[in-house]
Amino acid sequence: MKISMIGAGRVGATAAFSVLTQGLCDSFAFVDVLGDLARGEALDLLHGVSLLPRQVKMAGGDDYVLSKDSDVVIITAGIPRQPGETRLDLLKKNVGLMKDVVAKVVAQSPNAVLIMVSNPVDALTYLAARESKFPTSRVVGTGTLLDSVRFRSFLGDRLGLVSSQVQAYMIGEHGDSMVPVLSQLRVDGIPLTSFPGFAGKINEILERTKNGGAEVIALKKGTMYPVGLMIARIARAIVFDSGEILPVSTVIDDYYGIRNVALSVPTRIGRGGALERIKLELSDDELEKLRKSAQVLRSALDSVGY
Ligand code: LAC
Repeated sequence: MKISMIGAGRVGATAAFSVLTQGLCDSFAFVDVLGDLARGEALDLLHGVSLLPRQVKMAGGDDYVLSKDSDVVIITAGIPRQPGETRLDLLKKNVGLMKDVVAKVVAQSPNAVLIMVSNPVDALTYLAARESKFPTSRVVGTGTLLDSVRFRSFLGDRLGLVSSQVQAYMIGEHGDSMVPVLSQLRVDGIPLTSFPGFAGKINEILERTKNGGAEVIALKKGTMYPVGLMIARIARAIVFDSGEILPVSTVIDDYYGIRNVALSVPTRIGRGGALERIKLELSDDELEKLRKSAQVLRSALDSVGY
């Protein structure tokens, strides 16, 4: 199993560490326009191979041929958000770069599943699906899995629960129009709304979840740990063909009538990528917000000719 990481910045490096410590592949390549950075990350990880769950062949540099015949290609390359910027503000800056990256990735790995991370991730997932000409199932954006992870973490932390037992979805745009599915909040199957403290804390939790990326960026210039762990979670479902359901971003062909845009809904993930989308029971308000999120993303895509 070969996994390649396009982009050796903090997110790429953190994701690589998560992927390798979970033993997800026996061959790993870093590719970055900064060849020395990619070589350095690959070498640094090579030094730790004797402590990993399995032997891994490491490679790094600025030549995409290093990623040849990858099973999974994770794309984190792109201009990152600055404090005060929205993810959609990045779109025009990253469209040209991403078209070039996707062309080079596809030339080396025509059978790979792509995991899109670069922001704005929903629009760039749609772009990658069109530019790669891959089946849309093989282009998976991290989307609101990150927001759902933050949501679950905050709910556990603020309500004294075990976060890994919390079922909570954010769907739609990985951005300002994301939609919390409050009607489906559970902890180990028990409705969360009945837990002590929920009513008084939910608004703060929603605020900090929606602004989670911006809050961390203001403090340390970029996010990495939950992003790296989330990328590894998606890669694990692909590598082990697990069928796990995750809220990831894919090109939607008909979800409550939503189509021709990439956004996040619960999706079954396996070796072929996004196997099927799961229809959530949504309240009227949640469905209206999801449709608004789709409109925001469609307008963004229209603005760059997609
Ligand atoms: C964040 C970036 C990955 O939310 O969008 O941390």
